[in-house]
Amino acid sequence: MTDTPSSPSEQQIEQAARVLAQGGLVAFPTETVYGLGADAENPAAVQLIYKAKGRPANHPLIVHVAPGADLRYWVTDIPPVAQQLMDAFWPGPLTLILPRNPAIPDTVSGGQSSIGIRCPSHPVAQALLKRMAELKPSGQAGVAAPSANKFGQVSPTAASHVRDEFADMSAEELLIVEAGPSEVGIESTIVDVSRTHQGVGAVLLRPGHISAAMIAEVIGYEPASPDQQAPQVSGSLKAHYAPRTPLSLFDEGNAPAVQAALAKGGKQAIVAFASLPPFSADVHDWYVCSPDAQLYAQDLYAMLRRLDQGQYQHIWVQRCPDTPDWQAVNDRLGRAAAAFE
Ligand code: TXA
Ligand code: MG
Repeated sequence: MTDTPSSPSEQQIEQAARVLAQGGLVAFPTETVYGLGADAENPAAVQLIYKAKGRPANHPLIVHVAPGADLRYWVTDIPPVAQQLMDAFWPGPLTLILPRNPAIPDTVSGGQSSIGIRCPSHPVAQALLKRMAELKPSGQAGVAAPSANKFGQVSPTAASHVRDEFADMSAEELLIVEAGPSEVGIESTIVDVSRTHQGVGAVLLRPGHISAAMIAEVIGYEPASPDQQAPQVSGSLKAHYAPRTPLSLFDEGNAPAVQAALAKGGKQAIVAFASLPPFSADVHDWYVCSPDAQLYAQDLYAMLRRLDQGQYQHIWVQRCPDTPDWQAVNDRLGRAAAAFE
């Protein structure tokens, strides 16, 4: 299936905003990945997300808001560090965990007292959120949206991926707003700033396009790694973001073991940087990946989906450099491989 690169029409945005305001499900594009959205203030609508994804209901969802939304509607406190991060990176691929306004039903945050908020930069997401806010009596709208994939699977970076994931749902059950491929390609960076009143600074819950170094430049220190008290993140399950085909990482150190596995035969794929050809070329399919971390991230999930369709017995992916700019890609690849350990 091909994806329409064009933007949806005004009527399509209008229809999607109405479906959301009336408690329905809408998949929509963001700059990171496609989201599976429902009205964050409507617990029955939020339940539809959990049901469609097959996701446990104690996993909190990210609430998406339009630029200029009144954050006080959603949260009780905006600490200075959160304000600094919003000023620097919103709209964009950054989610902040903040203390939830108790007036917002806790279905959306899996019962936690915090809430994840993100203001996406994608123009279609923004138009949808803006129009939905106009339809709400409060003038405020939040769309709860996890990535539009079944629980534990690879996130969708194209409308065709969403259609494939939810082929079991009719257009009445799930409206898909189509736009081109996602620019960033991996999920937003998540930073917890919900415990500053306890003296806990920013904590990096999920690495992403907005790197720890970029955050440090704005707030003056590197965000900490999650501790025991940090909010739970489903994407932080050790095994997550996995393709269906078994996947392992390799580097020059375990090249002989990979060579031995390849020699046993069977259709296997190798994903590697062009500079490393340690295997005989006749026993496998060879995919050359980008040496640029951002381009790699942009294509990562689409690549895993293509490989899943290749009927391989095994996918071997060369380890990426262990440098800060590769942190988010390494995080996702590590979890994909962990699913098969
Ligand atoms: O880029 C993204 O963030 C995409 C697009 C659609 O915006 N969304 C996304 O959602 O990746 P999801 O549900 O696949 O991942 C959201 C992560 C989960 O790991 C969840 O646990 C965490 O955000 N999260 C949301 N609210 C939270 C909260 N109150 N406390 C801790 N973690 C939270
Ligand atoms: Mg997800």
